[in-house]
Amino acid sequence: MAKRVVLAYSGGLDTSVAVRWIQEEWGAEVVALAADVGQGGDFDAVRERALAAGAVEAVVVDARREYADEFVAPAIRANALYEGKYPLVSALSRPLIARHLVRAAREHGADAVAHGCTGKGNDQVRFEVASRALAPDLEVLAPVRVWGLTREQAIEYAHRFDIPITVTRAKPYSIDANLVGRAIECGEMEDPWAAPPEDVYELTRPVAAAPAEPRELVVGFERGVPVSVDGERRSLHELLPRLDEVVGAYGWGRLDMVENRRVGIKSRETYECPGALALLRAHADLESITLERDLMREKARLEPRYAELVYDGLWFSPLKEALDAFVESSQEHVSGEVRLRLEPGRCFPNGRRAPASLYDYELATYEADDAFRHDDAAGFVRLWGLSVETWARRQRGVDG
Ligand code: ARG
Repeated sequence: MAKRVVLAYSGGLDTSVAVRWIQEEWGAEVVALAADVGQGGDFDAVRERALAAGAVEAVVVDARREYADEFVAPAIRANALYEGKYPLVSALSRPLIARHLVRAAREHGADAVAHGCTGKGNDQVRFEVASRALAPDLEVLAPVRVWGLTREQAIEYAHRFDIPITVTRAKPYSIDANLVGRAIECGEMEDPWAAPPEDVYELTRPVAAAPAEPRELVVGFERGVPVSVDGERRSLHELLPRLDEVVGAYGWGRLDMVENRRVGIKSRETYECPGALALLRAHADLESITLERDLMREKARLEPRYAELVYDGLWFSPLKEALDAFVESSQEHVSGEVRLRLEPGRCFPNGRRAPASLYDYELATYEADDAFRHDDAAGFVRLWGLSVETWARRQRGVDG
């Protein structure tokens, strides 16, 4: 059994109880690690709470820049949307947190890492697979998966051991948030027919409350990475909150879907990711003028696979690494700007430009500048259709 454990600590009920429970039941010391990935909140208070719950050490890491640059940016370059929709809010943060758990385990001489996930979700998969990929020698513990406490019993446990918890209003939601957006589960939304209540949203306004006046934003990219808004250079961890605010105000960026978890369950998910979805849209649009046709199509074929790997906890895996190399190569010329137009309930590109654009005015135009070789078209089209023509003559029958 482990002697010293680094626990991924959120400051919530389950991980607070876990700090004590691991000591009581497994006799191991607990180092709590809280990572700031842009979820907001008071991390001094989180640190205090971990120590009050009995942690021998509480570490807070501001991982916002690292998260944005090393996890969110690659996902944007890959146009990664799980099942065509979900921009991987929780899936992107877990491998980063796992990396910090492993790092802290080395620093603090721990022989195990731990997380507060249940047995029904994807996050346990992501923590554990990432941790094993980075440090196969470390044990991975999942107290919440084995203790079998109901929410009430967990609260009782906290009271019994004087563990400070912020017992929130009886909102039954499970929320996970970071720079990419917010995931909201449980409560009435467990019925996939029930509409999500308006008060689950924090980053997006209802469409009816959006400004009536449309607005345009120019997003700048360098090699596929967002680097500016309206000409102002900002790093990605600053751009995302800024875009959440502007785009969310227009009532755009919500998702309501039933998705396939890795553990075999279909689950109803509500997300709001206005900034990240706007960037993904702008990025894909910039690729439409900067990626050569075959490259663009092959990339499009690989993108769902990329998203699946990330969703399934395989951030650190050989296939993911190989796909990253492909994506990296594909982004060489994906630099330029996309203009996004915001209208109530809408966000869409209405202009794009790039120094290495493949859009050639003289080839595309119907005006006098036309440089396209029209005569070449006749022979090309004849040969293109030759096999079909032969089929029609020999097999289909002229009348058919
Ligand atoms: N279903 C999403 C995913 O698997 C969101 C998970 C949210 N996590 C949470 N602990 N509430 O990525």
